Amino acid sequence: MTKDYGSNAPLSYNKYLRVADLIGLQDCLSDPKHHDELLFITIHQAYELWFKQILHEIDAAITLMNEDRLTAAARAMRRVVEIEKLLVNQIHLLETMTPISFLAFRDQLNPASGFQSMQFREIEFASGLKHQNLLNEFREDEFAQPRLQQRFDAPSLGDTFFAALQQRGFDAPASDDSIGEEERRKRHGKRTQAVLEILTHFEERNEEFQVAEALLEHDEYFALWRSHHIKMVERMVGTKRGTGGSEGVGYLQTTLDKKFFPELWEARTHLDTKHGEAGCPFAGEATKPAEAPAEPEKTKKAPPKPVAKSKRVQTNERLGRRSRSTRGGGDKLKQERLLRA
Ligand code: HEM
Repeated sequence: MTKDYGSNAPLSYNKYLRVADLIGLQDCLSDPKHHDELLFITIHQAYELWFKQILHEIDAAITLMNEDRLTAAARAMRRVVEIEKLLVNQIHLLETMTPISFLAFRDQLNPASGFQSMQFREIEFASGLKHQNLLNEFREDEFAQPRLQQRFDAPSLGDTFFAALQQRGFDAPASDDSIGEEERRKRHGKRTQAVLEILTHFEERNEEFQVAEALLEHDEYFALWRSHHIKMVERMVGTKRGTGGSEGVGYLQTTLDKKFFPELWEARTHLDTKHGEAGCPFAGEATKPAEAPAEPEKTKKAPPKPVAKSKRVQTNERLGRRSRSTRGGGDKLKQERLLRA
């Protein structure tokens, strides 16, 4: 309940931030109180506050992408990444606690575990990593279940990003449960190719590029948090079973390769300076690579908000057009040089 700051008290720092409530939320279970338990609780609560902020920014990024405001969406995602950098570092504060100090109160925590963090799963679901079995873990939690179900059913960051690309004329079709495996793979390939186009023409496609990079970094720092957390866990408890009942470090290692946006990573493998000339693996026929949507806005709907293009970009596009019709060797060289620049 909100603490009373005095009748008609003017707004103050403590009243505005509800400091009295905030510093009253750390209930240690050890008896007598173990010195390090406060650190343990504070760190977890600080994580949960930052998770709340991350979700706030992800929701904003999704709304902005739906409104075709990609620059603003990239900015929201860059804030997410900065928070995640902090979260990676924060894990090491726990390592100022000795393993024997942690064991002194660890048993009190049983069977609670970070595995049950609702907001951590919300971030995973909103970022596109959705597993029914993880959702099922919360079926008896009346507060968490509906929130998680909503995140599970809603379009993720990745879904929204590719829908925004589709709106801008890229061929980046969404996947859905009703389609077969082959069609799923085909659509995945098309989305990867859309990313490939953005990475190749990153200046002309600067807005799309900035969002793609911010999303990739979000994925990267989340994975980095996972690996720092595992090392810290191993340092604290070795390969003991987790308080949440899992195998512990063994289980956590299975999560290391999880990716939010596989297309963004995969596109790097296929990228080369000849993309659009002869090297595109998705072009179908290596001799007719120009049929790939190298300039998607011309093959599909015009982009809603065309980006002001520099002279150099226009030259690049002219070269691209000419190389499609004549495929002259000189043009090829010029285009390659431009792409490398
Ligand atoms: C001494 C400190 C810590 C230890 C020993 C520890 C240990 C573990 C273990 C063993 C697991 C596997 C699940 C289980 O059986 O419990 C786990 C999962 C997890 N922990 Fe920690 N943890 C610590 C601190 C933290 C902190 C500070 C956070 C921040 C929120 C955190 C978040 C998580 C999350 C989100 C998972 C689930 C990961 C996944 O399923 O991908 N843990 N932890």
